[in-house]
Amino acid sequence: MEASATSKLLVSDFASTVSHIPSNYVRPISDRPNLSEVKTSGDSIPLIDLQELHGPNRTEIVHKLANACSTYGFFQIKNHGVPDTTVDNMLTVAREFFHQPESERMKLYSADSTKTTRLSTSFNVNADKILNWRDFLRLHCFPVEDYIQEWPSSPDSFREVTAEFATSVRALILRLLEAISESLSLKKDHISNILGQHAQHMAFNYYPPCPEPELTYGLPGHKDPTVITVLLQDQVSGLQVFNDDKWVSVNPIPNTFIVNIGDQMQVISNDKYKSVLHRAVVNTAKERLSIPTFYFPSTDAVIGPANELINEQDSLAVYKSFPFVEYWDKFWDRSLATASCLDAFKASTT
Ligand code: OGA
Ligand code: NI
Repeated sequence: MEASATSKLLVSDFASTVSHIPSNYVRPISDRPNLSEVKTSGDSIPLIDLQELHGPNRTEIVHKLANACSTYGFFQIKNHGVPDTTVDNMLTVAREFFHQPESERMKLYSADSTKTTRLSTSFNVNADKILNWRDFLRLHCFPVEDYIQEWPSSPDSFREVTAEFATSVRALILRLLEAISESLSLKKDHISNILGQHAQHMAFNYYPPCPEPELTYGLPGHKDPTVITVLLQDQVSGLQVFNDDKWVSVNPIPNTFIVNIGDQMQVISNDKYKSVLHRAVVNTAKERLSIPTFYFPSTDAVIGPANELINEQDSLAVYKSFPFVEYWDKFWDRSLATASCLDAFKASTT
């Protein structure tokens, strides 16, 4: 059989049967992970303890957040308030979901990115010329009651566990948005207020073991379209962040989440905080699961740099204001690319 001639849509349904990856997963030599050049040791991104966010040391924590957001665009958090059991249950039921028979999983398969609950593969199968070694379930989860009926009904506890996780992570995100508003010297409800009705999506990324991880990506380098992303990963490494001209791996720490600034926060902060390039690589030995929560404005919300952060002298607006839907349509119209989607939203310089 020709290597690319697999009839299976999902990577998880053929990964363990091949010793070479199909040709439509192979990246050109100029675009490979070069895993031996990745920085894997030492401290990668800051770890911030949120324990004291609501105590007398709030100012200090807010400063740490400001520094992490401006220098790295990425940080990890501990004592984040999401109960350990909620996290453990989420990882367990997500793994159970992907371990179900192909026929059960494929019930949810769709290539239509406008669907609010769907299973798919790669990033955007309609646009990707080279596929990614990833399957994913993606769902909308705020308000929970608007979407829960569409979520997978198998495993049995999927809906209950996911609803609890989504609600708890949202509460964490609202706390982070307040603290980040403060860190920009904005009123603490500034960011929350401009997001309209707010929107929250989750992805469940499943990366099966891969016989040739040097030739492909789980997800190629990209910036998130979000305001903020809060990612739960299992204990298998794979996430890498671009920092100081190098790819740096973010090694898993139990009971933490990884937070990153998305494109909308870059706009709101008028480039004070940067949406940073990151990617996921795969490995030969172990499957990997990551569960990012993507936090967005509602589609009608108008996003632009905060007025308080722009002035005529030394801080002109870098971006114009735009209805979020304009950005969203652009994002899904293409394959995942390292080029920022934000170039189209720059303020005109005359
Ligand atoms: C994403 C992402 C990284 C990971 O889903 O946007 O960057 O480690 N995931 O799975
Ligand atoms: Ni991402």
